[in-house]
Amino acid sequence: MEVNKIAVIGAGTMGRGIAYAAALGGYCTILEDVSAPVLQQGLAYVRETLEEGIARGKVTPLQKEQALACLGSAGSVEEACREADLVIEAAPEEMELKVDIFCILDKFAKPGAIFASNTSSLSITEIAAVTCRPEKCVGMHFFNPVPKMKLLEIVRALETSEDTLATCREVGRRMGKEVVVVRESPGFVTSRINALIGNEAFHMLQEGIASAEDIDKAMRLGLNHPMGPFELVDLVGLDVRLSILEYLHNTLGEKYRPSPLLRQYVKAGRLGRKAGRGVYEYPDAKAKGQA
Ligand SMILES: NC(=O)c1ccc[n+]([C@@H]2O[C@H](COP(=O)([O-])OP(=O)(O)OC[C@H]3O[C@@H](n4cnc5c(N)ncnc54)[C@H](O)[C@@H]3O)[C@@H](O)[C@H]2O)c1
Repeated sequence: MEVNKIAVIGAGTMGRGIAYAAALGGYCTILEDVSAPVLQQGLAYVRETLEEGIARGKVTPLQKEQALACLGSAGSVEEACREADLVIEAAPEEMELKVDIFCILDKFAKPGAIFASNTSSLSITEIAAVTCRPEKCVGMHFFNPVPKMKLLEIVRALETSEDTLATCREVGRRMGKEVVVVRESPGFVTSRINALIGNEAFHMLQEGIASAEDIDKAMRLGLNHPMGPFELVDLVGLDVRLSILEYLHNTLGEKYRPSPLLRQYVKAGRLGRKAGRGVYEYPDAKAKGQA
């Protein structure tokens, strides 16, 4: 199936990055968010990231012009999806919310349109079951920050068709991503392994085994991870990580029980870079009022 127009639902951390990759890949891209200010920030992010790409020699001025010419926004999910060949949902990690969005998509999108969720861990099969087109539903799991991260994990749900998978592979390729296809299982490959590493780091911090800085340093320099687990969780969002762990705990068992310290940080509002404070402090982010 040919994809020309992509709608991205949710303009937060992930949605704005996905919109950037889609626009740069030459797709007509519509971005949507329930929050008007977040939508504007998302569009500004796409513009600024294209500028940065030019400054770093990664994007040509022509690519920027073409990407911006094809970038638009919508005031509701209904409006965003009407013309889209592919809708990528990047709303918060809550099953009820995603199910609501997929119901609206099924009602208002074109009959042949593909619906993808960027969920880090939830069941695509369960989300797809509320639609009349489960063969057109798939997981497209991008990584943060989307412009920089090469991997796209495509998740095959119970009824995802070969045609849907092939279409998403091609979209991933045009967005400049390397693709792996995984069978649906809680947390897929990356979130499942990463959640355990991150949770273990919080246990070690709580036990006083080492400081956050030293745990991060050990993982970077000893195991060659590009970021330490606390640097990474601050980027991902502690609330996002907690909800992934809660889901893995419910579906896969005790091994994934969230660390009490992680829970406490989330209760304290220490949600990571976006809140100006996570495991580490980010005074600049707070001053700019980043969401
Ligand atoms: N943050 C990460 O590192 C990361 C990585 C991979 C996947 N994910 C997944 O991507 C999804 C989005 O995560 P995020 O970090 O971008 O979250 P986020 O909170 O930064 O952004 C979500 C956005 O969705 C908007 N929203 C809420 N309800 C909506 C609705 N009904 N319609 C349209 N927009 C709505 C919110 O206003 C918000 O701007 C989640 O499923 C998450 O698990 C996140």
